[in-house]
Amino acid sequence: MSGNSTYEPKNGLSRWLDARLPIMRLAHDTMSTFPTPRNLNVWYTFGGILTFCLGVQIVTGIVLAMHYTPTAAAAFDSVENIRREVNYGWLLNFIHSNGASMFFLAVYLHMFRGLYYGSSKAPREVLWILGVIIYVVMVATAFLGYVLPWGQMSFWAATVITNLFTSLDQIIPHLGGAHDPGLGTTITQWLWGGFAVGDPTLNRFFSLHYLLPFVIAGLVVLHIWALHVPGNNNPLGIDVKGPQDTVPFHPYYTVKDGFYLCLFVILFAFLVFFAPDFVGNPDNYTTANPLVTPPHIVPEWYLLPFYAMLRSIPQKLVGVLVLFGAIATLLFVPWLDTSRVRSMRFRPMMKQFFWIFVADCILLGYLGSQEPQAVWHLGGVDMPLLWPARIGTLYYFAFFWVIMPVIGLIETPRPRPDSIAASVLGNAQAAE
Ligand code: HEM
Repeated sequence: MSGNSTYEPKNGLSRWLDARLPIMRLAHDTMSTFPTPRNLNVWYTFGGILTFCLGVQIVTGIVLAMHYTPTAAAAFDSVENIRREVNYGWLLNFIHSNGASMFFLAVYLHMFRGLYYGSSKAPREVLWILGVIIYVVMVATAFLGYVLPWGQMSFWAATVITNLFTSLDQIIPHLGGAHDPGLGTTITQWLWGGFAVGDPTLNRFFSLHYLLPFVIAGLVVLHIWALHVPGNNNPLGIDVKGPQDTVPFHPYYTVKDGFYLCLFVILFAFLVFFAPDFVGNPDNYTTANPLVTPPHIVPEWYLLPFYAMLRSIPQKLVGVLVLFGAIATLLFVPWLDTSRVRSMRFRPMMKQFFWIFVADCILLGYLGSQEPQAVWHLGGVDMPLLWPARIGTLYYFAFFWVIMPVIGLIETPRPRPDSIAASVLGNAQAAE
């Protein structure tokens, strides 16, 4: 990892192990003595919280899988059975379903934090890119998991999303002869394992839903490794200049992260015990029926902004490209941000565009939840919600591809403190 090791094995057994597999040394150097900037605030607690969320999803998921049946005929009933008959099955079920929402809440705050403090910029580009890959795998895992209860919304969400690939038929209408299906239809049927969402689809979705969290766990190890090479960024966005700028990770940040984790768990527990269906969709309490399309198909809240973007464009292929482009854009952030200053604390113009961006994401989320034909009544004029969704989508892309590079070049940043210690302790004390 980084820096020189300060680990000293305390007894014969740990000396023996250290000479063969220095795993305790690794844990000690990365989690105990690791020099961490002394000014990390609450927004730096979400990495730890996310690790906790991943653990909770894996543990509850493994036990749920012991009672779940991945067939179209039995899936819905097996979930109902888990809720009613399995010991504490209702608790496992609600922790897992609400856990996904809490996971996404934490990941969005973690990502906005990264954007605000310029944490994606050199030398942390790889750390950021690994984060974006984790996010994509999280989205895939959540989507696959949502299909498993085999309710109406599960079935129709699977149908809508897998059908997006059929738009590729516009690029290659026939793979092979003139009577063969196009590229998109071929991919879609390959995903389904048949000619519609059905038994094979559910089975493979279950298999992948079980696999991907372990892929995420592996990616998180790389993510934290890539964090430990340059070390943490911090709210000031300035580099650590010496030992006076840091404190050991333990006990300072173990205690701080632990405190905020408790607050997070209180909110989580509130959802699980008092409002377990608050983020769910009532249609998923009806078993999947391929013959009845629900009047309003919506994804879970954490995918709504992307859904709004997709629906705002009438041309299907372009909509799909915009959807994937919106996520792919995140990969380029380290280079799109041209400012020499990392933290937006010292960037008066960019800060404002950042908050408009946050509001834009919330607006898109709201628009994604509305019926496609919905209208706003503005002073006697009816405005279809399609228009704000288009403007919101435009702002999303403009923020990254135009505003970020241009403002970085023209803005005059405010003066930054000399060091982290000077900012925390005041110049005189820091000099001491
Ligand atoms: C399972 C999901 C994730 C886990 C477990 C995780 C874990 C962590 C941990 C433990 C830290 C250090 C503590 C902190 O700064 O909060 C961290 C930092 C960071 N993460 Fe993640 N992360 C995840 C997802 C993401 C995603 C999706 C992104 C961005 C797209 C991202 C970008 C970053 C960045 C840029 C930092 C460095 C922040 C700084 O030093 O200022 N992470 N992550």
